Amino acid sequence: MAYIAPSLLAADFSALGKELERVREAEILHIDIMDGCFVPNLSMGPQVVQALRPKGGQVFDVHLMLVHPLPYIDSFRKAGADWITFHIESQDDPGKVIDAIVESGAKPGLALRPGTPIEELYPYGERLHSVTVMTVEPGFGGQKLMPEPLKKIRELKQRFPHILVEVDGGVTLETAPQCREAGADVLVAGTAVFGAERPGEAMVLLQGGQG
Ligand code: DX5
Ligand code: ZN
Repeated sequence: MAYIAPSLLAADFSALGKELERVREAEILHIDIMDGCFVPNLSMGPQVVQALRPKGGQVFDVHLMLVHPLPYIDSFRKAGADWITFHIESQDDPGKVIDAIVESGAKPGLALRPGTPIEELYPYGERLHSVTVMTVEPGFGGQKLMPEPLKKIRELKQRFPHILVEVDGGVTLETAPQCREAGADVLVAGTAVFGAERPGEAMVLLQGGQG
């Protein structure tokens, strides 16, 4: 069964500690970091991750949407990131960023924009813990899922069965079934979880269970 990773971007920023309690059943918490340059939006920095670390037992899955992720790996790891994902389209050498993540003690992941061919990840596949397949252009929550990138999942799984595949962007009760059928291991969901009256129930429904 796929894991559901609530995306903190859709939480109430005036009460993040409380929001974490609303998703206490989640095993993974997805945290979006934006630099206003790789994507046209800003979100949060390592201080927020550090402040939340003692409040949540979830795996902290940090998604870096940064032009230059390399200088920030250590600070996110020290702040409490368990998994650190950066974009293949970022401007740092992916091999060096993966080295830095592994050396920091976190698990490395690569993310790709909807239009980026999956083959670009192949040189790094053996070293990756996870791949985040973006089904929206990164930068904002609450967008509509693009189905086309879901085709990348099977190809990736065939070549690298060890990789955990996340789908990120526009995952809702309507679109979750196609993400699960496409073979995703983790469904990242912001609006669909934090926007729900009962997030725990929303997560069960997103997994395909009965709420
Ligand atoms: C988009 C972020 C996503 C976003 C998903 O750039 O990477 O994680 O928070 O939000 P929803 O689920 O609302 O599309
Ligand atoms: Zn994300």
